[in-house]
Amino acid sequence: MKKMGAQFLIVIVFLALASSFAFASDPSPLQDFCVAVDDPKDALFVNGKFCKNPMLATAEDFFRKGLDIAGNTSNKVGSNVTQVNVAQIPGLNTLGVSLVRIDYAPYGLNPPHTHPRATEILTVLEGTLYVGFVTSNSDTGNRLITKVLNKGDVFVFPIGLIHFQFNTGHSNAVAIAGLSSQNPGVITIANSVFGSNPPISDDVLTKAFQVEKDVVDYLQAQFWVNN
Ligand SMILES: *[C@@H]1O[C@H](CO)[C@@H](O)[C@H](O)[C@H]1NC(C)=O
Ligand SMILES: *[C@@H]1O[C@H](CO)[C@@H](O)[C@H](O)[C@H]1NC(C)=O
Repeated sequence: MKKMGAQFLIVIVFLALASSFAFASDPSPLQDFCVAVDDPKDALFVNGKFCKNPMLATAEDFFRKGLDIAGNTSNKVGSNVTQVNVAQIPGLNTLGVSLVRIDYAPYGLNPPHTHPRATEILTVLEGTLYVGFVTSNSDTGNRLITKVLNKGDVFVFPIGLIHFQFNTGHSNAVAIAGLSSQNPGVITIANSVFGSNPPISDDVLTKAFQVEKDVVDYLQAQFWVNN
């Protein structure tokens, strides 16, 4: 009996090792896609960006100022995301983190969206936010998980899940969030579905959303703010 237990353990250890070796395959993508090209003059990304010679790197490559300045929230949703990712700080290339500042007008909304490549950890600097995310269809059946956050509170939005923040207060709100990618990507649900270019066919959207064509046409005619 004891011997069988030991053999079982060895099998488990072997399987665990085998699965950790499996991670030594392709790295996770750091952009939406990376189409292979033969001619380097057409090349832009190499799962991340090309690297500068490290001897030529300076402090400016790791620096950005201005995150104390609020974004302009005079738009349809009443929020503004100021991004600090590899596009703003080239030194973040391949390091797997980035930052945003989010400003909210009174009753402003950072509308439902997902980050295809990052988990987000957010803290409220000013104001009160009603935040939430929805779990995937298959795992736990689209459960909505929400919380009201006050100044100093911290909340996590797991990678890939649809989430939002809504300013429930009469005054401005400000949050800072860290994201686990140099280029988290943003897919704002309404914009992607109803504001795509060219538009997704009515046949697809009427069936997907179980509504009449005029509802789809109405939604497609809106101006979707890419905040
Ligand atoms: C966010 O704020 C910046 C800086 O004020 C502004 O340039 C930008 O247009 C704003 N974005 C939106 C979506 O309102
Ligand atoms: C904010 O954006 C609005 C609309 O684009 C514009 O009218 C206003 O001047 C901007 N405010 C600031 C402080 O830049």
